[in-house]
Amino acid sequence: MEKSNDTHLVEKITHLKEEKDAIILVHNYQRGEIQDIADFLGDSLALSRQAGELTCKMIVFCGVRFMAETAKIISPDKVVLLPRKEASCPMANMINKEELQKMKIKYPEARVVSYVNTTAEIKAESDACCTSANAIAVVQNIDAERVIFIPDKNLANYVSRFTDKEVIPYNGYCYVHVRIRAEDIKKAKKIHPDAVVFVHPECPPEVIELADEVASTAGMLKLARASEARKFIIGTEEGLIYRLKKENPEKKFFAAGPALICRNMKLTRLEDVYLSLKEERYKVEVEDNIASRARKALNEMLKYA
Ligand code: 13P
Ligand code: SF4
Repeated sequence: MEKSNDTHLVEKITHLKEEKDAIILVHNYQRGEIQDIADFLGDSLALSRQAGELTCKMIVFCGVRFMAETAKIISPDKVVLLPRKEASCPMANMINKEELQKMKIKYPEARVVSYVNTTAEIKAESDACCTSANAIAVVQNIDAERVIFIPDKNLANYVSRFTDKEVIPYNGYCYVHVRIRAEDIKKAKKIHPDAVVFVHPECPPEVIELADEVASTAGMLKLARASEARKFIIGTEEGLIYRLKKENPEKKFFAAGPALICRNMKLTRLEDVYLSLKEERYKVEVEDNIASRARKALNEMLKYA
């Protein structure tokens, strides 16, 4: 039988990876065929951690820009490549330095916790970063009673339920997760009354209210593995459903309403990964002065599970 174009590409990628001493890090929202070539597949926290532990020369980051930038900041001596240079997270671009500065002036005694879905410049202006997996722990452990939490208002709202600290939100959001409506969850529950509902904390509060579990993508994978339930309604980007099904073939996973697709995450294809390795493109660079300050905030994030 003749080999498919994808099989050829995967072979070439494997060869180039060895030749260039490269590792492929892949986020849980990537296309199935990209997840399948991952050396490490994970959520933003696990991939950030992984970037710091690797000993290879090169990282190909299949995800969005803030993730590749984070890997570069944590591991500055490695070449970090983002196969599609326009793959960025719109939420990460919702707040700029001037807007953050205004909040700092308004709340001078507050500390700043920024979601990892931010630019390196914003991280450099923050006291700590967090991901959805450890946002509560980071806020709880920061040395201040008032916390400016940027940019995701829904994650800020979710975190505020678990702390007595005053959480001051910004008005950012994820255009993918805000598409899930409470009616979608109710409808899905009617169709699958015996299913457990998992949603990401970037969902709106009225959706979170209806969930059995609120978790990061890695959190959902862990919960699904451990659960006795057989059916699950998943309120996050559909790439995670690919992985959930692959790892739990005996269980059933349903999208909470219409398929949720992050266009930015889906830009990367096998051809892009191949060209990225072959031509060493697109190199992610972060200015030293920004990187050193952002690294401090990221190191705070890495303290918490
Ligand atoms: P995780 O940290 O759960 O992987 O999520 C990242 C993200 O971009 C959510 O939309
Ligand atoms: Fe950004 Fe939302 Fe896409 Fe995650 S799913 S990368 S938060 S736009």
